[in-house]
Amino acid sequence: MASRKPIVAGNWKMNGSVELITTMAETLKNASNNNIDVLIFPPFPLLSKALEAGIVAGSQTVSHENAGAFTGEVDAKLVAELGCKYTLVGHSERRSIYGESNDDVAAKFEKAQQYNLIPILCVGESEEQREQGLTESVVSEQINAVINKLGVAALVNSVIAYEPVWAIGTGKTATPEQAQQVHKFIRDEIAALDVVVSQNIALLYGGSVNDQNSELLFAQADIDGGLIGGASLKPDAFVSICNSAQRNA
Ligand code: PGA
Repeated sequence: MASRKPIVAGNWKMNGSVELITTMAETLKNASNNNIDVLIFPPFPLLSKALEAGIVAGSQTVSHENAGAFTGEVDAKLVAELGCKYTLVGHSERRSIYGESNDDVAAKFEKAQQYNLIPILCVGESEEQREQGLTESVVSEQINAVINKLGVAALVNSVIAYEPVWAIGTGKTATPEQAQQVHKFIRDEIAALDVVVSQNIALLYGGSVNDQNSELLFAQADIDGGLIGGASLKPDAFVSICNSAQRNA
């Protein structure tokens, strides 16, 4: 992981408040995380507030459309104009609750990059898929939807977050070995197409990461940080997760 800068990203989902932005900004300012990138994905109404408070913030999704008559959707161009550098695409909740397909996610990925946002592509298998031995094929299909549409070079300005669906919000974290195995699989798959891209892309783990388990997860060779849900709503726990990434940087 030597050449890759670790990233710790907090996904607030539909949680948080103006007050939490202020507390988080203060807590992060007092933490010294010089060798890692720390990001927060708050709900849209809090994005400006987060950026003004000095937090590196991104959107939880973007539309695959350009500006137009799409009530309730969010334009990637506007997110970039606001000062965001990143967006999540294809979070499992977007896939399972809002029906986003691999093709939809690839289109969002493309739109994000068109406006110089770095997409964090979320991938991961369900419990049933894992039990059926389909983890690698599911993850590979999710990543290939992007590669087939845009080419492997599109991964240069992107991040991939492996988040097994069964570990999200359940308290059932993948073991460091389980997570490392899938991360290595992802890196090897990309390496088969382009070794340089595979060595430089940050691969984050997500799914019930907390301040107790982050250290061992981040110590794995192919895990370059984390996408943190629940624990990113607790500033002290989040900073302690950042510290474990910093120690493994
Ligand atoms: P969790 O969520 O940390 O609460 O499991 C992770 C995510 O959904 O990104």
